[in-house]
Amino acid sequence: MIQTLDTEIIDSGAFRAALYDGQVFIIKSTPESRALVHDARAIVASAFGAAQQDLPHIHMEQSADELWQNLNDARAVIAASEFSKRHITNMIAPLFNDHACYDVLRLRCSPHNGHTNPAAARSYSAHRDTWFANPDAQINFWVPLFDVSEAQSFAFSPSYFNQATANNSADFDYTIWRDSTGFQNAKASNSAVYPSLTTPVHDPKRFAFNCTAGDILVFSAAHLHQPQNNNSGRTRFSIDFRLVDLDDAANGQGAPNVDNESKGNAQSDYLRLKP
Ligand SMILES: [Fe+2]
Repeated sequence: MIQTLDTEIIDSGAFRAALYDGQVFIIKSTPESRALVHDARAIVASAFGAAQQDLPHIHMEQSADELWQNLNDARAVIAASEFSKRHITNMIAPLFNDHACYDVLRLRCSPHNGHTNPAAARSYSAHRDTWFANPDAQINFWVPLFDVSEAQSFAFSPSYFNQATANNSADFDYTIWRDSTGFQNAKASNSAVYPSLTTPVHDPKRFAFNCTAGDILVFSAAHLHQPQNNNSGRTRFSIDFRLVDLDDAANGQGAPNVDNESKGNAQSDYLRLKP
């Protein structure tokens, strides 16, 4: 299901081809990913006014509203373009050439029992990132700030990588989304369209994962995936970012599009790794 990789043996072209074919990888933590974890933990701890080791239990100290406010403060620092570019450049150097574009680092938080908060319901729906007008050639990177168990992770439905689902991605227009909502906007519009399944699916091959702080989960943006209901007793903090190889995108390479009908292209707002 998940293949573990050592960065020293990766061939970039074969790696991307496997990702476009649906393979999910975990790259064991690298010096560069550990540097990101080190810096990000300090930022999160400062924003939450907590010791780093207490962050997985922050839900016992702070209300959902406090948690949301502090999370947004930390997100703004982590998404700063220079911080993002430096860490992404360092992390992906062993994996890709720099003829690529990226979006900024996004800090995520999955609080213990966060799925029981009605205000967060749409964050827990199954989706493909491509339904949000993300390109077929997009590769997602996800790095936990603390060790993660299956209950804190998210699940893939690999049988649907090449199989269409019933979904409402046709209602998603990137331009409207960007102007009214945007990714990780603290004041997101309530009427925004979050594409999701319109008919539930069942995949006997569905799988979640566990990994350690600083490991790098890598997968195609076209994968159908869904956050787990986190009842682990520990709040999860993670960082993710997206990368698009510019040659692959220009040449029409990438994951198959089996059911995405979203409009627009989020890549138009991604940043060049190298000017
Ligand atoms: Fe996603």
